[in-house]
Amino acid sequence: MINIAIDGPSGAGKSTVAKLVAAKLGITYLDTGAMYRACALYAVRRSVSVNDEEQVAKLLPDVDISFAGEGESKRVLLNGEDVSSAIREHAISKAASDISKLHCVRDFLVAQQRKIASESNVVLDGRDITSNVLPNAKYKFFLTASADVRAERRYKELIARGADIEYEKVKADIIDRDKNDSQRAYAPLVLTPDSTLIDSSEMTPEQVADVIIAQVMADK
Ligand code: DC
Repeated sequence: MINIAIDGPSGAGKSTVAKLVAAKLGITYLDTGAMYRACALYAVRRSVSVNDEEQVAKLLPDVDISFAGEGESKRVLLNGEDVSSAIREHAISKAASDISKLHCVRDFLVAQQRKIASESNVVLDGRDITSNVLPNAKYKFFLTASADVRAERRYKELIARGADIEYEKVKADIIDRDKNDSQRAYAPLVLTPDSTLIDSSEMTPEQVADVIIAQVMADK
């Protein structure tokens, strides 16, 4: 199986790049962040605090996350409902970051991610793929960009969705979420020594995808 693991902070361009790599190689893309977002959405809708491990653990048996379609038309399904837009709401980003600290949630999702990776050729992006989900993946990348570039990308994405939000708020939230994701106790975002570090601040998504594909092709 080809497993390509991509980690990095929010707004580094991971999902855009991962989709491009998957399309070019004709393999599956697994957006692990979408899985944490779907869990957060489920808890928020049930009015359960995303910090309450006991209550969240009780919800998990009722959470079924799946994906439909490929490429740009790929949808995230939560118990069969298309939640692709709902999970991208700004408020769900922080809720996802908080719920991802819980052991029960990570164990629940990581088991699903490992199963998918063992059954198919897949590009996975997230925070703990290189360090925890697939530490033995052959292809490991850490994608980053400056905080300003990442905030600007996220701001444009939210505005394009019709959100009413200030750039400064987006930047402050992105810095706060990075801290939350890198400083948590269980499976934090880390740059592993065997990952290739790519700073995408001055690169297009196509250029980043080409770097990743070149490394995979060099082995063929
Ligand atoms: O990639 P994203 O912004 O959609 O991810 C949302 C949150 O989910 C992120 O702030 C941290 C968490 N996450 C995680 O802890 N581990 C992953 N592999 C992917 C995401």
